[in-house]
Amino acid sequence: MNYGYFDDAAREYVITNPRTPTKWINYIGTLQFGGYVDHTGGALICAQDPALNRITKYITQFPASAFNGETLYLRLKHPERNAVESKEARSSTPPLRGSAQSAYAVFSPFFVPTLDQYDRYECHVGLGYTRIISEFYGVRSQVTIFVPMGGQCEIRDIQITNISQGPIDIDAIPVVEYTHFDALKQLTNADWVPQTMQSKMTSDAGCTTLVQYAFMLRDMRVNYFTSNVPASSFETDRQKFLGDNGYGTWANPLALQQPELSNYEALRGDNIAALMHHLGTLQPDESRRLITQLGQAPSLDQARPSIEKYREAAEVDRALAEINQFWVEYVAKFQVQTPDVDFNRMINIHNARQCYITKQWSRYLSLYQLGYGARGIGFRDSSQDVLAVMTSVPHEAKDLIKKLLSVQKRNGSAMHQFNPLTMIASEGDSLEREDRPHYYSDDHLWGVLATCAYLKETGDFAFLDEVIAYYEKDKQEQPLESGTVLDHLQRAIEFTYGDLGAHNLPRLGFADWNDTINLATGAESLFTANLYGRALRELIELSKYRGDAAAAQKYGEYYAAMRTSVNQHAWDGEWYVGYFDHDGTPLGSKQNQYGQIQLNGQTWPVMSGFAADERAAQALESAHRLLNTRNGLKLSWPGFNGFDPAYGGVTTYPPGAKENGGIFLHTNPWAVIANVLIGNGDRAYEYYAQINPAAKNDRIDEYECEPYVYPQNILGDEHPQFGLARNSWLSGTASWMYQAGTQYILGIRATYRGLEIDPCIPKSWRGFKATRQFRGATYHIEVLNSEGVNRGVLLATIDGATQDSALVPDFADGREHQITVVLGAVA
Ligand code: GLC
Repeated sequence: MNYGYFDDAAREYVITNPRTPTKWINYIGTLQFGGYVDHTGGALICAQDPALNRITKYITQFPASAFNGETLYLRLKHPERNAVESKEARSSTPPLRGSAQSAYAVFSPFFVPTLDQYDRYECHVGLGYTRIISEFYGVRSQVTIFVPMGGQCEIRDIQITNISQGPIDIDAIPVVEYTHFDALKQLTNADWVPQTMQSKMTSDAGCTTLVQYAFMLRDMRVNYFTSNVPASSFETDRQKFLGDNGYGTWANPLALQQPELSNYEALRGDNIAALMHHLGTLQPDESRRLITQLGQAPSLDQARPSIEKYREAAEVDRALAEINQFWVEYVAKFQVQTPDVDFNRMINIHNARQCYITKQWSRYLSLYQLGYGARGIGFRDSSQDVLAVMTSVPHEAKDLIKKLLSVQKRNGSAMHQFNPLTMIASEGDSLEREDRPHYYSDDHLWGVLATCAYLKETGDFAFLDEVIAYYEKDKQEQPLESGTVLDHLQRAIEFTYGDLGAHNLPRLGFADWNDTINLATGAESLFTANLYGRALRELIELSKYRGDAAAAQKYGEYYAAMRTSVNQHAWDGEWYVGYFDHDGTPLGSKQNQYGQIQLNGQTWPVMSGFAADERAAQALESAHRLLNTRNGLKLSWPGFNGFDPAYGGVTTYPPGAKENGGIFLHTNPWAVIANVLIGNGDRAYEYYAQINPAAKNDRIDEYECEPYVYPQNILGDEHPQFGLARNSWLSGTASWMYQAGTQYILGIRATYRGLEIDPCIPKSWRGFKATRQFRGATYHIEVLNSEGVNRGVLLATIDGATQDSALVPDFADGREHQITVVLGAVA
């Protein structure tokens, strides 16, 4: 079964049935101001930090039918029920809700929270906006929800049309529920919080603005809710709005059975903002437009320009057009046409967008990552997210890399996460265990990958000389030491170089990429060994390119030493082990009862280059045999069956879930990449295609999550709900699938010396076309595969001139260039 369809021309996914198995969301705005809006109009909005400056109250644990954060009510006057039959569906139009005695029929055009039967329902999940178009009771409403570029307010552009045959008298009542700005306190304190919450009404130019603040912020920062149509009354107190001492419901708020709201300015309690707009009588086909704004500013005065601006419909249209323009330019940096339409729509639209969202929000705010401050921006996560936005927003990538390097410590290791508003960093969950190391062995190494990718994309080598402070500060909050970006990278390498265990492999720390394998102090991680190897290769390449032979030599020696340790100790016969425990016992070995084989253990030795040809092929074959399923590759197998403190987090899940033998999706693109690296284009593509969410659009009842973004995890085949996805949106899967698709399968990647084109595609593809912008120029690439090979560049022409490799130089001319690449069996 499906719940909607892809509209590629509009760059949208259109949900046509609001009863999706989980909420499906979209992101609007940025971390500066924004959040997510679900497909039934509920929204979680915050500014700069969802933990410390949250605006709307959205509780993900509420049932899908519940009001969450925001909604819109429309109401029609009884008893003119017979007048409102829809033209198209005259006989099927159900009777209006509400008892015969009630004065009004009230419904939400978003389906939630009134759950009326709709004639038509469409939620258009667009890039940077959500548009809900619905028809209920002869009323068509179209509501476009977005945050203007760089703006500090959420706009809801509401257009109501009478599609019935008679006149209708209609009111529109948009409602917002606020949270205390300290999101966690809202949940943990019901004494102080409600006494601080206040709302005031002001009016200007015939319009009403409701101002809301926590008392101590009154003179510093206010929220406001306003519209561009005169409101006849308002409500700011939830209990009064619901009515009957709060025993009224969001599905049927009793205040909406009165002609007017109570005009109450709440000086405590659960603050809402509701505005009553009498839109008047609409003749058949007549429309009205109402624009609401939910914003935040240091004061109402300072909000005035924005308030006035977005009361103008033309400005709202312009703001939306600007968002469209941003995204048109964003995705234009890389476009592809392959024979696989699901591949194309992910690379060209939805995966590209998801990469930008993960870059914005890290793992901080989603339906699953609740933004209460426990996480913030993750060093490891964001360093990987940033890898996939280099081409589209290199400046934003650079800014984020700078922030990340600013929480690196003097010894080269990194703080695990930081709060984006305060820039205070922490060691994350590693603090939970006194007896364990308080660092993660991989974090800092990702910074090397991120920085080198930025340099390859931009050629901005001056960045290496920029000075960034290390994290540690003195009593006056002044940094104890600073270093150049290059110094930060070198220290990252030196930290791991100096942190080896009994097998000369990197110590695990609290964990590596896999947060949940928490072995006793002294354990070693093969993942970190391979990530270190990959980071070393980056630095060797960079050093050579910069002509620093001594550094290239030194890192070459580090690399060779680690390659020896890995191959000497970690080969288990048919695959590589994943860890050595503090006492030398392997994990990810035939000797183990559980977790015998780990996917990262096989893909990363290929990605580091440590696995020589035969072992690489064998390790990947073992992974295929023991870990692959039709829904993706499992992270490990067999799953642990019961809690075991000796292993930690991984044993908290049942077998088949998350890191315990689940299909932890982030690791699947690594299998795509590893297979490309050994030239197995058919398998790489098989792994790519089998987890492509767009290809699951007709299997949603098994899968449940949004078909337009990657989730973090899918239950594995040891679990009875095999195939069920969770934790959509904020996952490293987005960045790595994008890289796997564009840089490895399509093989178009930035290098220091230019743009390299070395595809590794399925034999069945007879070629593809792509457009890639690189350092200001645009490259139109056509790859021809008439021989039906996986890989191998026979010849390439660049603007008509033939050459035998496809390394396109950096023309730095801002022009368009034509590249043709012919694949074939290379002798
Ligand atoms: C989550 C974390 C990520 C970690 C992964 C595996 O996705 O955000 O940092 O690598 O889990 O444990």
